[in-house]
Amino acid sequence: MAGQGGSSAGGRGVVISDNWPGYSLDLFTYPQHYYGDLEYVLIPHGIIVDRTERLAKDIMQDIGDNDIVVLCVLKGGYKFCADLVEHIKNLSRNSERFISMKVDFVRLKSYHNDQSMQDMQIIGGDDLSKLTGKDIVGTGRTMKVLLNNIEKYKPKMIKVASLLVKRTSRPDGYRPDYYGFEIPDLFVVGYALDYNEHFRDLNHICVINDHGKTKYRV
Ligand code: IMP
Ligand code: MG
Repeated sequence: MAGQGGSSAGGRGVVISDNWPGYSLDLFTYPQHYYGDLEYVLIPHGIIVDRTERLAKDIMQDIGDNDIVVLCVLKGGYKFCADLVEHIKNLSRNSERFISMKVDFVRLKSYHNDQSMQDMQIIGGDDLSKLTGKDIVGTGRTMKVLLNNIEKYKPKMIKVASLLVKRTSRPDGYRPDYYGFEIPDLFVVGYALDYNEHFRDLNHICVINDHGKTKYRV
């Protein structure tokens, strides 16, 4: 893994190069019901959590004394959002600056099998946001739709945090304010990311194999 710390709110996060072979599944534990369905571990759970802690620190530094509303994008963003909020709370508790935080949720749905679909549904969310917590930016289409909707409420500040950004060749590539990892243009699962609702209960971020794709295809 070609690690690169990145400055506050900047950089490309931890860059995982296209030729990164990943870790063998045999080196970790994962649910038995997924045996035979995965190719390799792209990012182990521990590294995800450690990187998220640093994002929390960067966010804390940037927001100053502002209160924040964390808008979690379900379902894929729930693990990242929960861990990010935990880290912000811990950092805030251990410093002299107490940040008031509200949490709200929206649900977006756009993927069918491993293909991004045109039509997008936004469900829920009743509060304005200053910060959004998201799982992954693939094509960036989802994020643009969401931001257009949030901007209507004219929040003082909007910052987008995404755990993963894919290196896609598509021109509408959206770049979030904070991101954990820049990854190859692969379909990944785990840490709440799904393939047709499966694999959310996997801790590590992994690449599925053809067997897994066929098994859970709809
Ligand atoms: P985009 O519109 O292509 O940017 O896709 C964004 C949404 O699609 C994300 O919020 C995810 O829920 C889902 N998505 C994109 N890429 C992946 C992937 O590799 N695995 C699982 N879900 C993905
Ligand atoms: Mg999904």
